[in-house]
Amino acid sequence: MRILLLGCNGQVGWELQRSLSVLGEVVVLGSDAKKNLQGLSGNLTDLDGLAQTVQTVRPDVIVNAAAHTAVDKAESEPELARTINALAPGVLAAEAHKLGAWLIHYSTDYVFDGSGTTPWTETDATGPLSVYGATKLEGEQLVAANNPKHLILRTSWVYGARGGNFAKTMLRLASERETLTVIDDQFGAPTSAELLADVTAHATRNLQSRPELAGLYHCVASGETTWHGYARFVLQTAQALGTVLKASPEQVAPTSTQNYPTPAKRPRNSRLNTAKLQDAFNLTLPHWQAGVGRMLTEISGK
Ligand SMILES: NC(=O)c1ccc[n+]([C@@H]2O[C@H](COP(=O)([O-])OP(=O)(O)OC[C@H]3O[C@@H](n4cnc5c(N)ncnc54)[C@H](OP(=O)(O)O)[C@@H]3O)[C@@H](O)[C@H]2O)c1
Repeated sequence: MRILLLGCNGQVGWELQRSLSVLGEVVVLGSDAKKNLQGLSGNLTDLDGLAQTVQTVRPDVIVNAAAHTAVDKAESEPELARTINALAPGVLAAEAHKLGAWLIHYSTDYVFDGSGTTPWTETDATGPLSVYGATKLEGEQLVAANNPKHLILRTSWVYGARGGNFAKTMLRLASERETLTVIDDQFGAPTSAELLADVTAHATRNLQSRPELAGLYHCVASGETTWHGYARFVLQTAQALGTVLKASPEQVAPTSTQNYPTPAKRPRNSRLNTAKLQDAFNLTLPHWQAGVGRMLTEISGK
């Protein structure tokens, strides 16, 4: 199997480099504006270059982990966000379709309006609150319209051990200050890039023999929390690993979203129901605390 991986340096893309490597040859591209030595372009603003790249590589599967993920910045650059999050995935889907290839793509809880308390299912009505959410939703629609051989995984609150993440920010703040204040009225599940990459590899293999599984799925770690609950868990685990902090978990105070205005509105209810994915692909999605605990252990060096 030949796989074309786009967005290889992002959180999910980095883990995909590992998880996809056992499936076959992986051609890996980042966002560099210039074409590489083989004339390949992984830049999602270069729609013609992207189409040519797919036809040159002739993959069996394209995995697109690239996206405009700067949620607040997207509010002031909607055209760029739309090109990267919607038009480019549409081109990838169309070019994959010409080859009979699969497109694996990622989307987000931000396609929903965040109302209610029930975990969203794949058939629930969407209602994005932000440019990011709207462009990601359009991307889903273009992928599905341009290639029946697609898998879209909607996920939430992604973190990876590499680079910055929410947990590392909380640890830094807790080492500098005696109290922290964190939002406690947005609900979701922190999901590791590792988990997404492993599910992707498993699903990609399954799709080759069971193409009827094509479609849209929710993929998040199990359980739920708030950013406040997440922050407390991070500090509790770090303390248990021997990290010395100025702020204890009890000194993380809750606050509401309205006290932290941001350019882009976030959904309050980001819970995603993953029953469809678990049933179709015979998977078990571990609890979010297992993944966060593992990442904290890794970065602690213990
Ligand atoms: N992060 C989350 O909390 C979250 C939540 C729900 C869904 N998702 C979805 O999950 C997927 C993976 O996200 P992630 O967390 O791995 O994101 P990430 O760490 O922000 O990585 C995004 C990647 O996209 C690349 N990119 C940006 N503009 C590009 C362009 N014009 N051409 C090519 N590549 C470009 C970036 O490359 P450079 O670094 O070179 O700019 C980066 O490697 C995305 O579809 C995202 O929408 C993420």
